[in-house]
Amino acid sequence: MTLAQLLTILCLFLLTGVLVFSQDYEETNYSDYDTDAISLPEAPPLSVTQQPDYDSQLIYSYDCARECFCPSSYPFAMYCDHQKLKEVPNIPRHIRHLYIQHNDIEEITSKPFINATSLREINLSYNKLQSSKVDKDVFKRLKDLTQLHLEHNNLEDIPSPLPKTLKRLHLGFNKISKIAADATRELTKLTVLDLGSNRLTDASIKGKILSGMKSLMQIILCNNKLKSMPADLPESIQQISLENNSIVSIPEGYFKKTPNLVSLRMPHNKLKSVAYNAFNLSKLMELHLGHNQLSKPFFVPRNLEHLYLNHNDFKDLNISLMCPSLDLGHPNMLTYIRLDNNKLSGPVDYYAYRCFPRLIMIFYGHQRKDDEDDSEKSPKKYEKPDRPKKPGGSKAIDTEV
Ligand SMILES: *[C@@H]1O[C@H](CO)[C@@H](O)[C@H](O)[C@H]1NC(C)=O
Ligand SMILES: *[C@@H]1O[C@H](CO)[C@@H](O)[C@H](O)[C@H]1NC(C)=O
Ligand SMILES: *[C@@H]1O[C@H](CO)[C@@H](O)[C@H](O)[C@H]1NC(C)=O
Ligand SMILES: *[C@@H]1O[C@H](CO)[C@@H](O)[C@H](O)[C@H]1NC(C)=O
Ligand SMILES: *[C@@H]1O[C@H](CO)[C@@H](O)[C@H](O)[C@H]1NC(C)=O
Ligand SMILES: *[C@@H]1O[C@H](CO)[C@@H](O)[C@H](O)[C@H]1NC(C)=O
Repeated sequence: MTLAQLLTILCLFLLTGVLVFSQDYEETNYSDYDTDAISLPEAPPLSVTQQPDYDSQLIYSYDCARECFCPSSYPFAMYCDHQKLKEVPNIPRHIRHLYIQHNDIEEITSKPFINATSLREINLSYNKLQSSKVDKDVFKRLKDLTQLHLEHNNLEDIPSPLPKTLKRLHLGFNKISKIAADATRELTKLTVLDLGSNRLTDASIKGKILSGMKSLMQIILCNNKLKSMPADLPESIQQISLENNSIVSIPEGYFKKTPNLVSLRMPHNKLKSVAYNAFNLSKLMELHLGHNQLSKPFFVPRNLEHLYLNHNDFKDLNISLMCPSLDLGHPNMLTYIRLDNNKLSGPVDYYAYRCFPRLIMIFYGHQRKDDEDDSEKSPKKYEKPDRPKKPGGSKAIDTEV
């Protein structure tokens, strides 16, 4: 048997094998988009066996707001969640972690925070905060604050000023439609910014809104109303999440300013075409372009592992264009391509397996007829397959090639 025949058989085997699997995690809500991909140290878990620190802080360890719980085993935390609170109780000086999520707080004044100079983390998610009722100086005064969780509130803009120490800022599921130019400029230590599920438009993030955040690694902008790519991202950015916006194009050379990009997620947008070398990024590992209207191939960078092109308008896939040269010393890293719900008619060129020697799966699935709409409502034919892991994760699909 010649090599070509062997490869054809393997290719057919993979294509049929693939029908068993299917995968639709992109169809689900993006509400639980994993923001922990870049994780910073979290508070230590509660432990009854833990001995308290016998340092000066202990003096305050009995001081706890009446409505809250301050475990002696974890003396720097105050738990006030699920209490139907309408206001923030006085925060004792030694408290570093304040968990006050799931309450009915609309307003924040500076009074309860007057002594709270040790705060590092505040979880105020699932409250009813309104921008007009958040005192401007509250957060600014907290000189050690690194994590602020404000998701699931009714905020209309980013509270500002915020302390420069902040590393993670979670503002998902609010009503944010505007960002003041000075709200983010000084956040030079911020690594994670979550603005998903808000009301951001292109105008909201125009100008030098984002570039001041020189340490930003992850930005979440999914479920907003953007029509173009966010301008002016800082060079440090590694993960961009833009699922479910209305983005129509990627400007020429857009990613030249973001050479550190590892993951780009933009399914459910309105991309019709992208420049051939748009994604020529040496660190890119994950590229989600499902549910767009793409039909032309583009260059696949060497370190890309997962490529999602499902629910697009591809009629054929010119592998020689996606992979213009073979470099056996530095093989392409692609392991998974998802191609279902395009308009492909023939099998994928077996050259794909030579050019992408690590390829474990081409998910070919159902292809639409030329005149068939890409209906989201059509019944799902296949069962769920394993979901490929995040960049750096282990390979999820164990099909031998
Ligand atoms: C999507 O979100 C809605 C409202 O939050 C919820 O009721 C629904 O079950 C979610 N669907 C999926 C597939 O997670
Ligand atoms: C701040 O601390 C002082 C001294 O410990 C105390 O008297 C006062 O009630 C505290 N105020 C608040 C708002 O926690
Ligand atoms: C903040 O509260 C939300 C809602 O309960 C919870 O899901 C999340 O894990 C909390 N985050 C932190 C860092 O405690
Ligand atoms: C897409 O975003 C809109 C808000 O712009 C939201 O209403 C809708 O639920 C989102 N769709 C999904 C699948 O999350
Ligand atoms: C990708 O970028 C590298 C270096 O930046 C360049 O040498 C190469 O020609 C580019 N490839 C394509 C297909 O544009
Ligand atoms: C792929 O594109 C190249 C360059 O445009 C062309 O020469 C080649 O014939 C195409 N291959 C297929 C299989 O269409």
